[in-house]
Amino acid sequence: MATIKLQGSDQAFEQEPHHDCLLRAGLHAGIGLAYECNSGGCGSCKFELIEGDVVELWEQAPGLGERDRKKGRKLACQCRAVGDVTIKMRTDDQCRPPVVPRRFPATLERRHSITDDIIEFRFRGDAPARFLPGQYAMLRLPDSDSPRAYSMSNLPNDDGIWEFWIRRKPGGRITQRLFDHLRPGDRVTLDGPYGMAHLQPDSPRDILCIAGGSGISPVLSIARGVLLDPRLADRRLHFFFGGRTPADICGADQLRALPGATERLTFQAAISEPTDGDGWAGPAGFIHDTVAHTLGDTIRNHECYLAGPPPMVQATTRMLLLEQHVPQEQVHFDRFF
Ligand SMILES: Cc1cc2nc3c(=O)[nH]c(=O)nc-3n(C[C@H](O)[C@H](O)[C@H](O)COP(=O)(O)OP(=O)(O)OC[C@H]3O[C@@H](n4cnc5c(N)ncnc54)[C@H](O)[C@@H]3O)c2cc1C
Ligand code: FES
Repeated sequence: MATIKLQGSDQAFEQEPHHDCLLRAGLHAGIGLAYECNSGGCGSCKFELIEGDVVELWEQAPGLGERDRKKGRKLACQCRAVGDVTIKMRTDDQCRPPVVPRRFPATLERRHSITDDIIEFRFRGDAPARFLPGQYAMLRLPDSDSPRAYSMSNLPNDDGIWEFWIRRKPGGRITQRLFDHLRPGDRVTLDGPYGMAHLQPDSPRDILCIAGGSGISPVLSIARGVLLDPRLADRRLHFFFGGRTPADICGADQLRALPGATERLTFQAAISEPTDGDGWAGPAGFIHDTVAHTLGDTIRNHECYLAGPPPMVQATTRMLLLEQHVPQEQVHFDRFF
């Protein structure tokens, strides 16, 4: 067991020799280490090694720039301690896990096609599924040492069910194995929940959900939470989905089937690559433009949740924060690196 000390604080935590990384060992211990993606992409988990040794799991991770590397900085989500270490790393109360994550085995129960390139994977774990709508888990295939982040699309439950809407990435190493080889009865390891872009049930505002592509999964969980949580029964829900073609549009059927959806839900989609003959009669263009056009000045009266690829999140947060002046604390997002 390695002990990880945080320089300049009295906090320390243990990391098992084969625990996958420093970051998740710290979050498992309930410590608010700064992070966002858990996947080497965002750079939020940078640290400096003061004493001891670490193994770098992905030396070329894009979350570190040249300047960082020259200064000897590393990513806690891509490093494992070898023996006791002291590190200098930012902690943040907002990153303290509201539900302490844990690692556990899970079995694939069902796979179900949602679109041509999105499948819903339903796993059953060994205990009740505890998470907040909007959070994600790390999924590790047997014999792989490289987990991937996937956001839950369902709601927390006592039956231990974890559902994910996963989009096939052309040439992607893990999605190829998930889509082509994983069958009901197969076992994986899940580790979670993680993420800060979760439903805030105490906010009095109506809710705006914006999803791009596979970003549908966490936003669907949030929308399900809004429609089913009795504390939110008087909130309206505006759901916007951006895809490339009409075949990408999904989520509406699942949401419209929920109680109260007829009165409380509006669902609007936009596609960015319309073609002659695709039969699309809705808005064409990027989803953030459709949101701005549809809601106008009323946007700032909403609690806003968004998820999708970094360019979509960047364009949408720019629209919300800079053009519509939505207060930052009302905007919650996950970038899918
Ligand atoms: C917070 C979060 C939530 C996400 N939720 C969803 C979701 O709900 N649905 C969905 O479809 N996708 C989601 N993603 C994207 C998902 O995690 C994968 O990036 C995607 O499925 C492609 O994986 P791949 O292995 O097929 O592609 P690849 O191109 O093989 O790998 C892509 C990703 O794997 C990581 N990676 C690459 N190389 C290495 C390495 N050597 N070591 C460690 N990591 C490496 C990087 O993060 C990279 O972006 C989410 C991503 C994040 C960060
Ligand atoms: S949390 Fe480590 S790079 Fe994003």
